[in-house]
Amino acid sequence: MSAQRSKILAIIGQGYVGLPLAMAAVDAGWTVIGIDNFAAKVEQINGGSSPVEDISDTQLQAAISKSVYTATTDFSLVSRASVITICVPTPLDDKREPDLTLLRNAVTAIAPYISNETLVVSESTSYPGTLRDIVIPIINQNKSKDSKSVHFASAPERVNPGDAIWNQKNTPRLIGAIDQESQERALDFYESICGAAISVSTPEVAEAAKLLENTFRLVNIALINEFTQLCSAGGINVHEVIDAASSKPYGFMPFRPGVGVGGHCIPVDPLYLTWWARQNGSKAAFIESADSINHAMPKYVAERALSMVGENIKNPKILIIGVAYKPGVGDVRETPVSELRAHLMAKGAEVAWHDPLVPIWEGTNSVGLEWECDVAIIATNQPGMKLTELISKGIQILDCTNSLNGQKSVSSL
Ligand SMILES: NC(=O)c1ccc[n+]([C@@H]2O[C@H](COP(=O)([O-])OP(=O)(O)OC[C@H]3O[C@@H](n4cnc5c(N)ncnc54)[C@H](O)[C@@H]3O)[C@@H](O)[C@H]2O)c1
Repeated sequence: MSAQRSKILAIIGQGYVGLPLAMAAVDAGWTVIGIDNFAAKVEQINGGSSPVEDISDTQLQAAISKSVYTATTDFSLVSRASVITICVPTPLDDKREPDLTLLRNAVTAIAPYISNETLVVSESTSYPGTLRDIVIPIINQNKSKDSKSVHFASAPERVNPGDAIWNQKNTPRLIGAIDQESQERALDFYESICGAAISVSTPEVAEAAKLLENTFRLVNIALINEFTQLCSAGGINVHEVIDAASSKPYGFMPFRPGVGVGGHCIPVDPLYLTWWARQNGSKAAFIESADSINHAMPKYVAERALSMVGENIKNPKILIIGVAYKPGVGDVRETPVSELRAHLMAKGAEVAWHDPLVPIWEGTNSVGLEWECDVAIIATNQPGMKLTELISKGIQILDCTNSLNGQKSVSSL
């Protein structure tokens, strides 16, 4: 069977990447089959309840009711698709090295059902060579005999969850395919969804560009986190310095300090790069150093907060405000606030937390902002939080988000 001319897209993985892609494709006139191996999530989505903040229930329900989108656990349905995109997680293992188990599982599961002339695109972030050395061999070994011609491209996702400006449509997409035919088909597909699709010469260039983008963020965040500690020790407000430097119209881009880096991209992707460097006999010393600086931030923040507690208080009560890894999302994966909480508790503090987007975290519930405490740490400034009410309570506040500038009881990171 040839699925080439059907405008049917199958997306493997219905998370922060897969579901927004599904809705963007629906908007562009595609019929989308959203495949996920997590049955409860599939049930939730088909019930019209979106698991990601950037997609509203209304948008999801409209697509389901028009029969242009459905979620399923049935991998065999990829046979109907002319394009398959893979959007499954690519985390780190216990040794903080790339763990492609989920990607391999997903590719193995779809391989027997891929129709002839289908385009298979990997959107998952990974090291250069993943498409060519892992995805393609698995599919070629397991595909049906009738599927003589399968096309392959890498188009790493760049979505930024919670971003009100940049989305699937207006963020240009990099595309690197294994041959001219695959490249043209991938360009056709992404041009139907995105404002701009940019060709690069190989899948490896696209894969490496994605790692460069996120490593750029990691090292700049590390730089500003280190610089913050220098400024604090020297009695200068780092934010005033950043604002001042930002007046330079070229050659400077402001980054802000924080509790560390979180989520599944910035703390993870650069380690795909350092691992890949090691496989090629190189060493990414600068990136490894940046990673260490960011990892040390939760401890630094904990120590700063504890230094604000009165000497006579043995077991201070500390309220952490915002535990998601960034504002606007309820995503707590890799959140540096986890280490911050652990450091505070290890020093004998009684710690509670508040986050309007995270009801339960690490086996505990979010408390109200009125929770009595000695010090409050603003770790993530979630939208809608009434932070000014904290000031009127007169408690000490360590603001890691630069949200409460110039207030007497507020210390900036
Ligand atoms: N979230 C982001 O901000 C972002 C941005 C750009 C790129 N990425 C990359 O995109 C990829 C996906 O990330 P995400 O944030 O969407 O992850 P996610 O955890 O939000 O969603 C992934 C989904 O894939 C499903 N899944 C896991 N294994 C599967 C399998 N074998 N078969 C079918 N479904 C499977 C999970 O149940 C989950 O619903 C990763 O490589 C990530 O690095 C993420």
